Amino acid sequence: MKSSAVPNFFKLSINERIAILKEFLDLTEEETLILKNLCTLGFKELTAIGENPVSNYELPLRIANYFKINGTDYFIPMVVEEASVVAGACYGAKLCYERGIESSIVKQSNYAKAIGQIQLINIKNPLEAERKILENKNRLLEKANEGHRFSRAYNIKTRVFESEHGKSMTVNIYIDPGDAMGAAVASAMAETVAKEISKMTGIAYNSCIISNFSGRHVKAKAEVPVERLARKSVSGKKWRGEEVRDGIVWLSIWAENDVYRAVTHNKGIMNGVDAVAVATGQDWRAIESANHAFAAKNGTYKPLSRWRSEGDYMVGELEMLIPCGIVGGEIKKIPKAEFVLRKILRVKSADQLAEIMAAVGLAQNLAALSMLATIGLKEGHEPHRKIK
Ligand code: MEV
Repeated sequence: MKSSAVPNFFKLSINERIAILKEFLDLTEEETLILKNLCTLGFKELTAIGENPVSNYELPLRIANYFKINGTDYFIPMVVEEASVVAGACYGAKLCYERGIESSIVKQSNYAKAIGQIQLINIKNPLEAERKILENKNRLLEKANEGHRFSRAYNIKTRVFESEHGKSMTVNIYIDPGDAMGAAVASAMAETVAKEISKMTGIAYNSCIISNFSGRHVKAKAEVPVERLARKSVSGKKWRGEEVRDGIVWLSIWAENDVYRAVTHNKGIMNGVDAVAVATGQDWRAIESANHAFAAKNGTYKPLSRWRSEGDYMVGELEMLIPCGIVGGEIKKIPKAEFVLRKILRVKSADQLAEIMAAVGLAQNLAALSMLATIGLKEGHEPHRKIK
């Protein structure tokens, strides 16, 4: 029987790996060319990506236009298989263009840009342990910050848990990771602090890791002139701006009251956010995970955005967590991500990137709701230009 248990598969060259696949899967010579010839990265770049590459995987890099965010115009790079996502982003951004989309990092947020967690286990006297840790908070923070020039740990909090297995404690280290996403720094700082706590208290630690319930806390807002919302279907059916606005507000109310709808509403937001995240080499799973928790932060899963009527405008507000970075991570290993960040988006900070992603999420959401309130999904998913 053929087996996938190939020892040291990771040590093989790209061609050797392809040869093994060819044999295992009975691929023809032509079929292996899909891996070889459609690979647009050179051998060196592909190898540098690390761990078992056999080719690279091309998704379209699309550009959304009409984005005005905090007074600046952007062409937004989006990597996503679905054409209608980018068509939607452009449509939503165009509706918002008059006043632009305001997007800013929440100052004084309760959410940390990154959190490092430590699990202490088998604790006999948790109160005593907590007291020691909190009394030595500043010293532990100093230790955490040693050797880190661009990131800063600024707070420590503890929580005790009882289980049938014994008592344990979580230590959360609140970190500003500068322009990095913060996963590596959060784990590194947690390990340093865990060792110090163990020395100080004699308590063992089981594990150290980032908490993905963290990220840049962003709020985005758009004010759309109601008359701009008017639209027409291919068959000629027309909706007045007020009708579309009311449809969108009703959809927002639906999402606020029904988890089944709220999840789909948020999926529409993530369509835009994830596409920018992939284009810029971000860990989009971290962004997804952070917002699973953020959407349910008050105990019930809620939409990340809300739309209401205000006089001649319809106002949309979105709030979410965006763990992202413009240095470190995998960005440097993916040449196009680096190009997209520096040359197309020209972002100067990770905060700016988070603000852009939230603005795209809001525009994407607006486009989806406008479509649902009018032409419906089938027509909305028709590409603008069919290939001739
Ligand atoms: C489809 O990818 C996204 C939508 O379902 C979002 C929504 O329903 O709000 C259209």
